[in-house]
Amino acid sequence: MSKEQKGKRNQKETREDMVGLIHNLERDEDLKFNRRSFLKSAVGATVTLGVATLPFSVLALQDKEKDDNRKEIAKLADIPKDSAINFQYPTESEPAILVHTKDGELKAYNNKCTHLQCPVFYEKEESVLLCPCHRGFFSVDNGHPLAGPPQRELPLIDIQVENGVVYAVGRQIRHG
Ligand code: FES
Repeated sequence: MSKEQKGKRNQKETREDMVGLIHNLERDEDLKFNRRSFLKSAVGATVTLGVATLPFSVLALQDKEKDDNRKEIAKLADIPKDSAINFQYPTESEPAILVHTKDGELKAYNNKCTHLQCPVFYEKEESVLLCPCHRGFFSVDNGHPLAGPPQRELPLIDIQVENGVVYAVGRQIRHG
């Protein structure tokens, strides 16, 4: 092989090498791009899925909290109209009162007077909740103070009746 032929051949190989190298570089770029696109899509899908299912997770959590807070009080048949029973809710150290009103409604409150914590009783004559310590009166309908020293509402306990059984299912502390 002559020197001239060798030179041409080397030139040709060098050109082919360059083309191959450029091709490889482009391929690498494509792979990087594809990897990046895949990661972006995966992260996007995960975030979208997380956000989309968030309300269900929150609802499931709320349901669980409701179940945790649900506590049987008594059979409805054992609480005649115009009477009341005491129970503890949400813990054993928090006294509460359930009133079955003359109209057949069920109302429940924590029964520590919001003045100085004396127990509150159902007073049939007036259909009110009475604190005998300083003659504080609360409405049976909503637990708001009606007369006497108390200024704040009694905490309201949410009630549910299922298959003839009365349950406490939650509590609303409505005023600081
Ligand atoms: S403690 Fe109830 S009115 Fe004072």
